Amino acid sequence: MEKDRFNDLIKEKLGNINLIIVSNREPTAHEYVGKKIKAVKSVGGLTIALEPILKNLHGTWIAYGGGGADKVVVDSEKKIKLPEGEESYTLKRVFLTKKDLNDYYYGYSNSVLWPLSHTVYVKPVFNSDQFLAYDEVNRKFADSIIEELKERSDKNGISSENIIWLQDYHLAMCAKYLKEYDSELKTSIFWHIPWPNPEIFSICPEKTKLLEGLLSNDLIGFHIIYHCQNFLRSCEWELEAQVNWADYSITYKGHKTKVTPFPISIDAVHLNHIAMSEKVDEIIDETQKNDEIIEPPYEYLAVSVDRLDYTKGIIEKLIAIDKLLERHPELIGKFVFVQFGVLSRVHIEAYKKFNDEIFRLSDDINWKYGTSEWYPIVRYFKQLDLEVYMAYYRLCDVMIATPLHDGMNLVAKEFIMSDTDYKGMLILSRFAGAAKELYDSLLVNPYDSECFAGKIYEGIMMDKEEKKKRVSKMQNIILENDIYDWAYNFLTALYLI
Ligand code: F6P
Repeated sequence: MEKDRFNDLIKEKLGNINLIIVSNREPTAHEYVGKKIKAVKSVGGLTIALEPILKNLHGTWIAYGGGGADKVVVDSEKKIKLPEGEESYTLKRVFLTKKDLNDYYYGYSNSVLWPLSHTVYVKPVFNSDQFLAYDEVNRKFADSIIEELKERSDKNGISSENIIWLQDYHLAMCAKYLKEYDSELKTSIFWHIPWPNPEIFSICPEKTKLLEGLLSNDLIGFHIIYHCQNFLRSCEWELEAQVNWADYSITYKGHKTKVTPFPISIDAVHLNHIAMSEKVDEIIDETQKNDEIIEPPYEYLAVSVDRLDYTKGIIEKLIAIDKLLERHPELIGKFVFVQFGVLSRVHIEAYKKFNDEIFRLSDDINWKYGTSEWYPIVRYFKQLDLEVYMAYYRLCDVMIATPLHDGMNLVAKEFIMSDTDYKGMLILSRFAGAAKELYDSLLVNPYDSECFAGKIYEGIMMDKEEKKKRVSKMQNIILENDIYDWAYNFLTALYLI
């Protein structure tokens, strides 16, 4: 959907809505660089997806202010206009203590809910004190939202068009506090990660509280129908709730919640334009003359871009590359795989172990096959500009996005919209939500290293016409459901409740 059409449709169907988006991660952090303050944009999928929407609707984004200079740049209401130079929406920051962060973010969110929801055989580390901290931080977010609502009604004398859209697993308890403040308030949440099957969810000691918190919302969105079904089944298992499978709703203690799939997407047209921009062309030219990232020479190039997280299947991918070179020794000296990555959640033990394992395994594979002037695996773990990733997307023969389990995987969609010369083919995990839409990619089970290696080979060798046919089909699918369609579908569904 065109951006302008999105604006018109929202105005036509919903009138002047007052959208408040709430998430843990802020879209832009302010950091000190020497004595200067720099605005650093978040690179996560959440910002990529939601910022264009909020810019268009001139709404408010409430998020945790984690940047070193975040407190210095906000006004007395903890607000700042963003993005710099454009000032089209307001960011209102919630400040947390180190203990809050430790127990709520590293603790309950990322050591319990994250492994529990992803089912990748990393044990959740349950801790009831951390749940209390998580709940308390959710209350702090709710307080900040309520403060914002009060300020708005003082200024405008209105409150009825307020739409609260909570984001992700950090905020499962927030709606409960909002409804306690005003039971008429429309609240919703989009859960950006998978919802596990009821057997797995049932081991969580705080399962009833979490479900009750979530069911305070009027609408809950997941990426795919399977996660909605898992959620409904969890409610059937754990609560005295009336689950209606005909319209995917749950009535609990007299309140009805709709549960609906909304596959998230990207600003497809915009990203496609960037991929074809002069800047990306220049980076490609430069890289072809003198590649500062990939040292070893190559004839075939494979690329991956992941947050360094154990759910992303990086170890399994390295094992598949080992297998590929074992099965196809003719590729030795010709094939290079570059793993781009950004460090993430490094204070959690499981992440430390995982990062060490990446280094160990990639070093072993490079030692096994490397020669004096060539080695197969390049690691590059510093944040780069989007244009640089796009240049490599256009240069590669295959792009590998193979998480062990993922809500959606927006990187796969970004690659498809960047593949403007149809040189590359996408190798995608069956266990990423994106596989439901991008079924013309080469789908793999990342645990099956033999087949995985075979698909990498197939992707490298696939002729250009076949790549073009498949990639164009996938580009059309993404264009038909881009980020504006996603937001429009969610907001209208909420409005109609
Ligand atoms: O996948 C869920 C998610 O919240 C994404 O939306 C986001 O890009 C990613 O996790 C980043 O997590 P964090 O905020 O912990 O860096």
